[in-house]
Amino acid sequence: MIENKLLIISEDEAMKDQLRLILSEYKKVDAIQYEDLKTEIDRMAPDIVFLVQPKDDSSVEAVQFIQSLNPMTVVVFISLTQDFNLLRGVTRAGASDFFVFPDEMTLLNSKLDSIIQSAVDRKKSAEEIAASSQSFTRGRGQIYSFYSGKGGSGRTLIASTFAQTLKLESTAQVLLIDFNLQFGGVETYLSIESNRSLADLTPVINELNESHIRNVSERENHSKLEVLLSPKDAEVAESLPDEFISRLLRTCRRSYDFVIVDLPVHMNEATYTALEESDKIYYVLNLDTPSLQVLKQVEQLFKRLGVEMDERFELIVNGIGKDNELNVGDIKNFLSLPIEAKLNRDSKGLQPLINKGEPLRKEANEKKITQFAKDIRKWVLSKLG
Ligand SMILES: Nc1ncnc2c1ncn2[C@@H]1O[C@H](COP(=O)(O)OP(=O)(O)OP(=O)(O)O)[C@@H](O)[C@H]1O
Ligand SMILES: [Mg+2]
Repeated sequence: MIENKLLIISEDEAMKDQLRLILSEYKKVDAIQYEDLKTEIDRMAPDIVFLVQPKDDSSVEAVQFIQSLNPMTVVVFISLTQDFNLLRGVTRAGASDFFVFPDEMTLLNSKLDSIIQSAVDRKKSAEEIAASSQSFTRGRGQIYSFYSGKGGSGRTLIASTFAQTLKLESTAQVLLIDFNLQFGGVETYLSIESNRSLADLTPVINELNESHIRNVSERENHSKLEVLLSPKDAEVAESLPDEFISRLLRTCRRSYDFVIVDLPVHMNEATYTALEESDKIYYVLNLDTPSLQVLKQVEQLFKRLGVEMDERFELIVNGIGKDNELNVGDIKNFLSLPIEAKLNRDSKGLQPLINKGEPLRKEANEKKITQFAKDIRKWVLSKLG
């Protein structure tokens, strides 16, 4: 049995309570304010939305927005007025059911089981289609951010190689984004020369779609991995409009199965937004005391900023070797954070490739790859199942 995620969206607390009561049999029920719809719903990824009519006339637009994020979401519209035009508008926008409250409250109650069943059916058939074509379910890709509070810990090399490996070892659509807006970095490891950058999306950011992204992205030569490069310009970075980063990430999430984001140490609006939008935050940690101290500070900073860590903040221990100050056991003793991957130090293998500007991966099923690339492949394969 697939457990459905239900979400109530309403301006009105009393309506929220009423709906909670009606839905009390179901386990996964959340409720948010109508005004938070645009910022919250993408990450919450509900299966069924109970949308209560807002005071203003933005109902149709709200239904359209929910459907544009994921057409699989079942939208049940709760109207507070008998308004035929509104009914027609929200139905056209994709709402599958419509109840006028309070008159039709009992009707909703009695139809609830079949509404839930239709969501289960939709999800099942989407999964079957996905399984039969061996492809990934479109609609909601995963955003993985690579972060660290300490420079030079290996984020860019790990993020680039992780993305390349995912691309080579699966049929997934993968996009790598360089959010080191000031200095860039991935272009060096992946040997990409180009004047294009993600800042070129600025003129179309309000109507951003998949083809805009594919036009601006570059492809890494060997893996054909798509990459959105950094503008490498502080001034350009500063001038990106509000909501640029969140719009970009949400559009990417809809068009790709995996969106891999390389983040700078610097905590600014872009870094913060990317962290907020991420399904996983992979924190790259080296095995020494300064790295542990910085991590402690990062935990405090995240708490202050309200960046949720539970179930998505995971450690990537990088540079494991014989002569480290600390070992993986120490990390487990000192910290309660989960370790997602362990990567060995491999200077001998890496340095010649980095010096020549050659990417660490060239083709699928390669035999002769560096220890570091092997460690990453092991991790990626375990994620792909
Ligand atoms: N596992 C490893 N073994 C050996 N060398 C490594 C390893 N990981 C990273 N390095 C070295 O560290 C250097 C810095 O890595 P990288 O640029 O990925 O770090 P970063 O965290 O992105 O740094 P920045 O703060 O500059 O963005 C690499 O060029 C590489 O030489
Ligand atoms: Mg970097």
